[in-house]
Amino acid sequence: MSLNLRTSAPLRGECRLAGDKSLSHRVALLAALAEGESRIENFLDAGVTRAMLDALAALGVEWELEKDVLLLQGKGPGGLRPPGEALHCGNSGTTLRLLAGALAGANVPCVLDGSPGLRTRPMDRIVKPLQAMGVPIEAARGGTAPLSLSRRPNGVPLDAISITLPVASAQVKSAILFAALGADGTTTIKEPGPSRDHSERLLKAMGVGIMRDANNLRVTLDPPAGPMRPLRLRLPGDFSSGAFLICAALLIPRSDIVIRDIGLNPTRTGLIDALIAMGAAIDSQITGESYGEPIGDLRVQASKLHGTRIDGPLVVRMIDEFPIFAIVAAMADGLSVVADAEELRFKESDRIAVLSKELKGIGVDIEEMPDGFRIRGRRKLKGGVSVKSHGDHRLGMAFCIASLIADEPILLEDAEIIDQSFPEFSRHLEELGAQVLV
Ligand code: S3P
Repeated sequence: MSLNLRTSAPLRGECRLAGDKSLSHRVALLAALAEGESRIENFLDAGVTRAMLDALAALGVEWELEKDVLLLQGKGPGGLRPPGEALHCGNSGTTLRLLAGALAGANVPCVLDGSPGLRTRPMDRIVKPLQAMGVPIEAARGGTAPLSLSRRPNGVPLDAISITLPVASAQVKSAILFAALGADGTTTIKEPGPSRDHSERLLKAMGVGIMRDANNLRVTLDPPAGPMRPLRLRLPGDFSSGAFLICAALLIPRSDIVIRDIGLNPTRTGLIDALIAMGAAIDSQITGESYGEPIGDLRVQASKLHGTRIDGPLVVRMIDEFPIFAIVAAMADGLSVVADAEELRFKESDRIAVLSKELKGIGVDIEEMPDGFRIRGRRKLKGGVSVKSHGDHRLGMAFCIASLIADEPILLEDAEIIDQSFPEFSRHLEELGAQVLV
């Protein structure tokens, strides 16, 4: 399936987005570990969250997803049954890493596997800490999936650990926290940067003893004495999906859009800070909160932008937004530099290498660095080409936004990849005024 987006008019209007991907993964998994029925509105129905729900079904969890409402019968950690086959996590690192931690804590033996792309991504980062907690888990050669988790003797808790992570990663942190639910004593995790804290906020709301320092760099968890409370909540819209609409509105002259009820957790919204530093007209209003997650509205107006530098903790707070940020940097005036971002090499693609190679094809002056890239903005993009996503949904969507503003259309050949995280991507853009050519 290919996708070709254009626009001759500004983007205008309002939209509400499907639920946050990171939260959808976590609420499904934590609801399964809780006891009783959970009801989650605005659950994201997409490729990666289906991988999580299918895995939960294989573990004996009953759920139904009607429209965007997920009803899930929590089994409690002791109620999950070992699956008959390997749990297939598709292309989703979050599914695999979060499940590995939770199933280690719940003592459910299984094999966790995924797509050829997922099998290339580093899993040692969760395997080593879990082993340090006494989890009998092994990775394939090279520290990759499949992972084999064995059963440990009944009634033997895991060891609580105190660990400093070498890289800031919410997936690793969450895997350890979920395993620590089955540990004996207090687990402490320190991180070099403020990775997203959805797991902490949800666990706290479910009655688990979680403490954090003010900078979000240290978290402790005390395992609950009894069962966790089921969830009843409505998820905020996905900020990382909204990022594509935000950037499109900034770049298409005279655009003016409002995105309502979007997640505005500060560990996720680094892109807003980066864009405002570039001169973007973005107004953000927090309107409420759900299970500790701030929710609000964003108004975005087309703006003339200049280059910026992104490094340090800001990289962590906008870790998924670099493909679309690169398009914005190409359309800004002057130099933009991304540094301290080696982690981008371990996402759905090596985003540093792939962006540096592919963006040259659409006329971007980009230079690859070991830990990031440099873009000299030229305020124009050259279209008239067909591109592939390299198995990376966010790269695919970034190319589609580039097509909206390039001198000629850019055709994304494998557009089905977008359904992994944002199935309503082109519908929202169309409703805001873009045209879908194919
Ligand atoms: C995620 C954490 C991030 C992010 C991913 C989702 C999560 O990965 O890139 O898309 O839901 O925990 P890392 O935590 O490994 O940086």
